[in-house]
Amino acid sequence: MPEEDQKSDNQTKQGGFLGRLLSMPNDSIVKTVFMTVMVCLVCAIVVATAAVALKEKQEINKLVDVRKNILQVAGLDDDSMSMEDRFALIDTKIVDLETGEYVDELDVDTFDQRVAAKDPEQSVELSDDEDIAGIGRRANYAKVYLVKDDSDQVNKVILPVHGYGLWSTLYGFISLETDLSTIYRVIFYEHGETPGLGGEVDNPNWRAVWNGKQLFDENGEYNFHLVKGSVNPANAQADYQVDGLAGATLTTNGVSNLFKYWLTDQGFGPYIDKLRTSQG
Ligand SMILES: Cc1cc2nc3c(=O)[nH]c(=O)nc-3n(C[C@H](O)[C@H](O)[C@H](O)COP(=O)(O)O)c2cc1C
Repeated sequence: MPEEDQKSDNQTKQGGFLGRLLSMPNDSIVKTVFMTVMVCLVCAIVVATAAVALKEKQEINKLVDVRKNILQVAGLDDDSMSMEDRFALIDTKIVDLETGEYVDELDVDTFDQRVAAKDPEQSVELSDDEDIAGIGRRANYAKVYLVKDDSDQVNKVILPVHGYGLWSTLYGFISLETDLSTIYRVIFYEHGETPGLGGEVDNPNWRAVWNGKQLFDENGEYNFHLVKGSVNPANAQADYQVDGLAGATLTTNGVSNLFKYWLTDQGFGPYIDKLRTSQG
């Protein structure tokens, strides 16, 4: 055997499996499969490491985003004040949805309604009749946000809502004036509806239509709903109606149902009753 071949043969033997593999021709199936697996493995490690490393940052960003939405629905969207200062005008409380009473034992910073809704110990399963919002289970407790004015008086109440549209669960907030019937603003901060159709829930023009609408009639009964097409201002019920989304009746129905769910007996009904009573 020539000296060069002998040397490469020795190197191959010394390199073991890897050496033998690398000395194979580039078009060898074994070498191609091996290299493909190695590239996939390296990429998977890089992606997994990035996902783990960024998880905390993502969680913080999500929290900041939810806070921004709360500030917006509270009418505290003036950027001249820091987010912290504006959030200091909001009192966060936890409500027992069954009784409508505030709960002091739970920590507002760590309580997570979404996590609680998945835990059978902290939630109730809804029957088909009850579950008009398509949420399956409802947490026993919910966070509410009381917005205070300069003289420390509560001037708006913000309630979290969620429910199924066409493709996804929509998560949002509704803020109410002190009469607990007039809508100040609504916002959806998370959903997977189709942009341009159900995704128009994010359209500021559509959201503006909600301002000043009434939820409850003069007898205190829930009377609000979204209508197909546009609300006729001449209609006696116009104050209780909001335009449906064009070409997105299924998302519209979902939105209508989720508000009905959260603002009546199964949701914040007992809490709203308590607030009304305390106002005298
Ligand atoms: C690709 C695709 C995406 C759609 N996305 C939505 C949606 O996000 N929300 C919705 O209500 N309807 C959506 N629709 C339309 C519904 O299937 C249905 O036709 C519509 O809700 C009926 O509303 P209309 O009676 O106002 O036309 C989508 C349809 C298609 C083909």
